[in-house]
Amino acid sequence: MIELGRFQIDLEMRTLQQNGETLPLGSRAFDILAAVASANGRLVTKDELMNTVWPDTIVEENNIQVHLSALRKVLGQDRDLILTVPGRGYQLRQRQKNTSSCEAGSRAAACRRLPPPKSGLLGRSEAVKKIRAMLEHTHVLTLVGAGGIGKTSVAIEAAHHSSADFAEPVCFVDLAVVTTEEAVLRAIVESCELPLHGPQVSADQVAAALARQHRLLLLDNAEHVIGAVAHIVEVLIAGNDALRVLVTSREPLRIMPETVFRVEPLDVPPPCSTDADVLRCSAVKLFLQLANSLQVKVGGDSAEIQLAGQICRRLDGIPLAIELAAARVAALGLEGVYRRLDDRMAILAGGYRTALPRHQTLRATFDWSFALLNQSAKSLFRRLAVFADAFTFEAMCAVVCDDEYTVAHAIGSIGELAAKSLVNVEFEGPVAKYRLSESARAYALAKLQAEGEQQHITARHARHVPVMLQLAS
Ligand SMILES: Nc1ncnc2c1ncn2[C@@H]1O[C@H](COP(=O)(O)OP(=O)(O)O)[C@@H](O)[C@H]1O
Ligand SMILES: [Mg+2]
Repeated sequence: MIELGRFQIDLEMRTLQQNGETLPLGSRAFDILAAVASANGRLVTKDELMNTVWPDTIVEENNIQVHLSALRKVLGQDRDLILTVPGRGYQLRQRQKNTSSCEAGSRAAACRRLPPPKSGLLGRSEAVKKIRAMLEHTHVLTLVGAGGIGKTSVAIEAAHHSSADFAEPVCFVDLAVVTTEEAVLRAIVESCELPLHGPQVSADQVAAALARQHRLLLLDNAEHVIGAVAHIVEVLIAGNDALRVLVTSREPLRIMPETVFRVEPLDVPPPCSTDADVLRCSAVKLFLQLANSLQVKVGGDSAEIQLAGQICRRLDGIPLAIELAAARVAALGLEGVYRRLDDRMAILAGGYRTALPRHQTLRATFDWSFALLNQSAKSLFRRLAVFADAFTFEAMCAVVCDDEYTVAHAIGSIGELAAKSLVNVEFEGPVAKYRLSESARAYALAKLQAEGEQQHITARHARHVPVMLQLAS
């Protein structure tokens, strides 16, 4: 729910209300309102709006005008809530005000800056408790995990729970659309309402303005500006004992004062679980809740419950993938979704219109991570697609290394892939083993095929790995 002056926008029910009364608004006009309101003060370009409101169709630009006028008519005296920025796009006149359970006064101001907690957040109460406790002592805490695993959701929830522990309001800084160090600093200045003006601000100035403030700074979605954020956080934290920084990112900052908290997938049922055990898993709860909210009745008998459990397991308990799969149940049915999971990059598309572009399809989520890799890590990642199970460093080298791609390349790159949450590391005693999630593997395989390397790497895998397994047993 987004509260906008005297209006309430319910994104799930797709309604615009005023004092509890639903106002008549067409579907496209609602989409425009939702897109601009969800951007939380950020400018939404015309192209972005067209892609969000008419994702599969090309329409004339004046369609925006038509639906915008209808929307403004409904907004009445508040018609200028949505500003047109000539030649650029659309923007909210005022910041959105959220409706979490904040008290009056400064606590309410804190909540105004922080997005509302996600309603129906599943399986995260332990993580939230731990994060809150860790923030008592840890100056920089980074929530790390794969795209769509729920870092932002859990960080927002933890920040709401922790806000009472701080004297100053929580500062929420969304870095999703920020690309430079200067812009990161500006975003912090704006969000914390620091009295710094002028064309340029430095990390030292921001640090001085935040000095001794007992505050929680939440820097969300930092992976694409990780170097800049690492530098800024180091400067902010030096000599400021009262400041706490909570970061979400697909990879750690790698600075001295940092503690890393890995966000785990939602729990999925092991094979052969009873129906009751399947239904207890948070991943399955999420899947069934979302599928049923789309007017399809699923999960009514044992066969459906087991199928839902298998789907969640094959999606590795990643909430974003589960959301995308649940949305497909209305068209394909449970069985249809399960059978098409081999082609998951094609079917797991069509996320919420108001989600970040990289959260609208599974492929876009991986594209975002893949684009941030260097060439050597890209090569390794696509070649790892041939491993269906966990593998050792030696097995990996036997398959991917040659005269050009040396062991030194492999060492650097496997570290990078693990840090960036594209490969999971498990330990069997002192031995590290690596594994790609089923979704990561599907993405890597498509890249391997596109690069024309599939035959060669599959042949190397067939030649070396069975021999190594025999020697080990
Ligand atoms: N524990 C959860 N319960 C229900 N939905 C969740 C949960 N965690 C994440 N989601 C949903 O999954 C999607 C991705 O979550 P998000 O927090 O944005 O992931 P990340 O920041 O790791 O990319 C969002 O639509 C979010 O609402
Ligand atoms: Mg995020």
